[in-house]
Amino acid sequence: MHDRRFVIPHQPVKGEEFNSSVPDFNRRTEVMQTERGYASIITSIQPLTQQERLFTLRILDPLERARFSFRPGQFLMLELPGYGDVPLSISSSSSNHEFLELCVRKAGHVTTALFRCSEGARVAIKGPFGSAFPMHEMTHNHVLLIAGGLGIAPLRAPLFWINEHRQHYLDVTLLYGTKEPAQLLFTPQLSEWEKNHNIQVHTIVERGGAGWKGKTGMITDLFKDMTIDREHTWAIVCGPPPMFKVVCSSLDRLGIPMNRMFVSLERRMHCGMGKCCRCMVGSTFTCVDGPVFDYWSIMNLKEAI
Ligand SMILES: Cc1cc2nc3c(=O)[nH]c(=O)nc-3n(C[C@H](O)[C@H](O)[C@H](O)COP(=O)(O)OP(=O)(O)OC[C@H]3O[C@@H](n4cnc5c(N)ncnc54)[C@H](O)[C@@H]3O)c2cc1C
Ligand code: FES
Repeated sequence: MHDRRFVIPHQPVKGEEFNSSVPDFNRRTEVMQTERGYASIITSIQPLTQQERLFTLRILDPLERARFSFRPGQFLMLELPGYGDVPLSISSSSSNHEFLELCVRKAGHVTTALFRCSEGARVAIKGPFGSAFPMHEMTHNHVLLIAGGLGIAPLRAPLFWINEHRQHYLDVTLLYGTKEPAQLLFTPQLSEWEKNHNIQVHTIVERGGAGWKGKTGMITDLFKDMTIDREHTWAIVCGPPPMFKVVCSSLDRLGIPMNRMFVSLERRMHCGMGKCCRCMVGSTFTCVDGPVFDYWSIMNLKEAI
């Protein structure tokens, strides 16, 4: 049996029309792909580091564009014709129906080919796929977002969501760590969110080097200076798999219940829709049961983290 606790129906916040475009359906049926995917164009490519770029995509057909909606935490399959498909987290605001942003690290066959594309290149996207962060359930609580390295990519969508509904959340804190300062992504945008959306941002790097005036250490070192309201804090953790156990154990020690900690798992995927079994961990499909899981559900799942 698949755990369906995280099928979060749309629940408008008391007296507010929160986001009427949020679909209210089971995640297994919310796949809105066509056979060929949505034909799309790369409208801009922004270099972030040597290894990461921000790709902005636009679905070509206006009707398909209007129909495509997603929830923070979901991913899509990007097909580069002639090369193959890759799963990528949607890294833009779910209220932006015109453009989709994908923060991509050059890893191998398909992503290297994607890095050779120019603006105007045609790709196809399928999805959105998978489970999402329970943004509605987190309202009226503090939200602690913890990103390691490229984990900031899937965290951008919930951060955009929170910014757009800021009044519904209490303190919002982002802890963001990388190995080196040059690997920190979206720093101007994070400063802007800190200033204009009352998001507390704390960064830390493992090796600072000359010129780095910020904190140095592991991401869990940031917990030392924090006071956590254990009754009213939800956590979202994204990053490399070894980080999950360390961070979630620290959060557990700080008193946050494991079913209020959410992680986004990455597995090699092919179909993205529960057919090929490539992404399975035990009897769990990462693509349809996840990628977003609460830590309680997966902490004892062998090989999940
Ligand atoms: C749900 C989900 C969301 C993701 N979101 C992003 C994102 O926002 N940005 C991003 O840059 N990447 C993301 N990834 C990882 C991305 O899908 C892989 O980097 C990509 O598939 C590699 O494809 P490739 O053909 O370029 O590399 P390959 O030639 O297939 O492999 C190159 C290297 O990457 C590793 N790799 C391949 N697939 C994965 C994977 N799924 N997870 C981890 N390592 C992998 C391989 O083991 C190998 O070492 C996500 C993966 C999943 C499952
Ligand atoms: S990717 Fe095919 S079943 Fe999950």
